[in-house]
Amino acid sequence: MPARSIFRNKMARKRTAILISGRGSNMTALIEAAKDPTYPAEIVLVVSNRPEAGGVSRAAAEVIATEVVDHTRFPKDREGFERALQSTLESHRIEIVCLAGFMRVLTTWFVSRWSGRLLNIHPALLPAFKGLDTHRRALEAGASEHGATVHFVVPEMDSGPIITQGAVPVRRGDTEEMLSKRVLKIEHRIYPIALRLVASGQARMVDDRCVIEGSVDAAEAAFLPAH
Ligand code: GRF
Repeated sequence: MPARSIFRNKMARKRTAILISGRGSNMTALIEAAKDPTYPAEIVLVVSNRPEAGGVSRAAAEVIATEVVDHTRFPKDREGFERALQSTLESHRIEIVCLAGFMRVLTTWFVSRWSGRLLNIHPALLPAFKGLDTHRRALEAGASEHGATVHFVVPEMDSGPIITQGAVPVRRGDTEEMLSKRVLKIEHRIYPIALRLVASGQARMVDDRCVIEGSVDAAEAAFLPAH
């Protein structure tokens, strides 16, 4: 292989799509991180299942390709929706998919196609508080800590290997809104770290574990699982 193509291969940034359903603040955090030319992922596509999602116009303003795969066009046909999603991702030659507030449950068919290359952010310290309404449930449970987790997606919801996790304190008198704002800040910090680790090949899904190799910045190491 000529030296120039080796260099190009080494530098190739992973073509990444972000799937959203709403305002897209995590999407924005990933887009901002990927503006650094040394960041190993390039955000080349944003897909929304909702035409009205605020994140779509935010992404378009950043001159990133956007697509809408409207799930309501596939009533009672989850597979049809996912096939349309898959062909959109293939047509943009996507290598990594980040779910960021994407409010559709994905089937094994889709998840297995993207195994090890499909990431999700969940607003809780998994395995605590899987599912919806995590902030309300954390307050009701009297948790002293709450937070967010980025994990590889597996067919079982909110259960894949943890890549990064960040905690915040729950304060006396917190409302759901106050707590969610505090958690969102940590989300914006840990998602770019997780994508960087996966896109660079430093973090890999091996069976039910996330294996991290090579050296990690001390400030970022605090967000990685202890094993
Ligand atoms: C975030 O809290 C994320 O953890 C959850 O949905 C929310 C999406 O927010 N999955 P945004 O659209 O990224 O602002």
